[in-house]
Amino acid sequence: MKLSVQLAPKNKKGLLLANPVMTASGTFGWGTEYEHLFDIQRLGAIVCKGTTLKPREGNPQPRLAETPSGVLNSIGLQNIGVKAVAKEKAPVWATWRVPVIVNIVGETVDEYARLAQELDGVAGISALEVNIGCPNIKAGGAEFGARAESAAEVTAAVRAATSLPIVVKLTPNTTDIAEVARAAAGAGADAISLINTPRGMVIDTARRRPLLGNKFGGLSGPAIKPIALYMVYTVAGAVKVPVIGCGGITTADDALEFIMAGASAIQVGTANFNNPRAPLDVLEGIEQFMEKEGIKDIAELIGVGRG
Ligand SMILES: Cc1cc2nc3c(=O)[nH]c(=O)nc-3n(C[C@H](O)[C@H](O)[C@H](O)COP(=O)(O)O)c2cc1C
Repeated sequence: MKLSVQLAPKNKKGLLLANPVMTASGTFGWGTEYEHLFDIQRLGAIVCKGTTLKPREGNPQPRLAETPSGVLNSIGLQNIGVKAVAKEKAPVWATWRVPVIVNIVGETVDEYARLAQELDGVAGISALEVNIGCPNIKAGGAEFGARAESAAEVTAAVRAATSLPIVVKLTPNTTDIAEVARAAAGAGADAISLINTPRGMVIDTARRRPLLGNKFGGLSGPAIKPIALYMVYTVAGAVKVPVIGCGGITTADDALEFIMAGASAIQVGTANFNNPRAPLDVLEGIEQFMEKEGIKDIAELIGVGRG
């Protein structure tokens, strides 16, 4: 049974995954935190937390709120900064079989380019995921992913700064996600991942104020799956580069929906908080489905459910 997928067919280095199951940025730490729970080397790829030029403390607490079938978060990109990622984390990743993709986010186009430069050629980093859709920081982040022009500008700047494969991660907080996807692909993205979190809020009625310290947050988990699936379907129909689906994937059947909608790979995010083995369960479920249905190559399933 062939499960491998090539997510950067036009890139010299390529981004070959042993299988299509990845972890979503911000929900799987550095990968190391999960090593004692299961064999993380079996996964297709691990995406690390959003990385910025300087370390960030993140937003005021509380940063998480449970909602019906979902979670609202406003972490605000707490992270150790790109230099520490390259020096402390990458050497560990370099010993792994599973490729690690670093999620990067800047406040300006130049910051994205500098991040890409810092990580170019660092052993242990297989690709960059360019986050142009973080709803939880004041400057940059989501603003770039809201419009096609700025999405193209960031992508082109990152493209010029690195030879690593680039995955551009889109935000659902835009009017025409297909247009943004086309712009990113046109500017040199090797693949497109989506979705980041749609913006939301919760009001604490007892305290008569927004529950989250940052007032607003990003919604994730099963609540957003139909929205994510629709957007993945739309983007897969709009671009020629591989698409990576993300948003509310908890089971193998969820993952298969995204693959049948046109995704070449998928990311498991919030599900990790309930079940740290979720990505492996999803992978094993996909394998079982393929065996039961007599499918020899995962490629046979990609886009098969588009109708
Ligand atoms: C606590 C938390 C932190 C996140 N941090 C990041 C981040 O740093 N960069 C990013 O691109 N996405 C981040 N995300 C978004 C996820 O990677 C994913 O796109 C989103 O949660 C939807 O998938 P899910 O419903 O499977 O969680 C974060 C999500 C959560 C819940």
